[in-house]
Amino acid sequence: MPLVTTTEMFKKAYHGGYAIGAFNVNNMEIVQGITEAAQELNAPLILQVSKGARKYANHTYLMKLVEAAVINTGLPIALHLDHGDSFELCKSCIDGGFTSVMIDASSKPFEENIALTRQVVEYAHDHGVVVEAELGTLAGIEDEVNVSAEDSSYTRPEDVQEFVERTGCDSLAIAIGTSHGAYKFKPGTDPKLRLDILEEVEKRLPEFPIVLHGSSSVPQEFVKMINENGGNMPGAIGIPESELRKAAKMAVCKINIDSDLRLAMTACIRKYFNEHPDHFDPRQYLGPARDAIREMVKHKIVDVLGCDGKA
Ligand code: G3H
Ligand code: 13P
Ligand code: ZN
Repeated sequence: MPLVTTTEMFKKAYHGGYAIGAFNVNNMEIVQGITEAAQELNAPLILQVSKGARKYANHTYLMKLVEAAVINTGLPIALHLDHGDSFELCKSCIDGGFTSVMIDASSKPFEENIALTRQVVEYAHDHGVVVEAELGTLAGIEDEVNVSAEDSSYTRPEDVQEFVERTGCDSLAIAIGTSHGAYKFKPGTDPKLRLDILEEVEKRLPEFPIVLHGSSSVPQEFVKMINENGGNMPGAIGIPESELRKAAKMAVCKINIDSDLRLAMTACIRKYFNEHPDHFDPRQYLGPARDAIREMVKHKIVDVLGCDGKA
């Protein structure tokens, strides 16, 4: 099976009351850890590449790693550009074989967001590629953009219908309380999703796939493991996984997770070096790190997304 778009995946997810995991990839071990998990659980998968990942690993290397994953697993896998910030970047990924792109013009005024999104949609659809757009602003860090909590804003449900109709986008990322990165909310607080906003969006966009970014939950055992092995991460928590599970049963069809994989990988490597200070073969620490990613993704597939057995 070649790389697929998200169209069929989202249709099934919408009606099946589950979501597809969109996991960020930067190197071979990350691709392998994620795809091993999806294969074991027979789960559909979105592998996504940020502008920074593409700069780090090179478009062709990432493309070929993902193609290898498709051959190896036989799973339906979509390759998606995460947070595309310009028409040129989206075009380059479309021309280079991605099956899905995000144009993130959410920080621009409404009319500019519509105009840029529309431009990307026209090019993408001419080339059989689907487009995710965003309305509303999440807090946190993504690529080089850092949005403070004060500058973040929930999506306004009254805008979504006009936005989707005028842009022709295939899915919509909304801001309902998630945020990017590992430093999301203060420990001791009780972060929740605004599921009431999601419900309002769903009423206005029946059967339309909604996307949640910033959906890492910052598992405390990994923060602890990092700090016990020489790290110095300040305390922080994410949205509870139980909240995300509720969203996955509603109109949310794609849930983006990156930071939790980074935490699992880093915790594992720090612990390894603490226990084996004389080791220097990268396979010795990248192998267990890959296993840690696999276990994290399996947990997300079963306990957050509910997409096990849906490939
Ligand atoms: O939302 C952003 C993703 O976590 C990608 O992060 O830009 O550091 O690759 P990155
Ligand atoms: P996290 O930082 O919460 O993992 O979010 C990732 C993301 O939204 C990628 O687009
Ligand atoms: Zn994001």
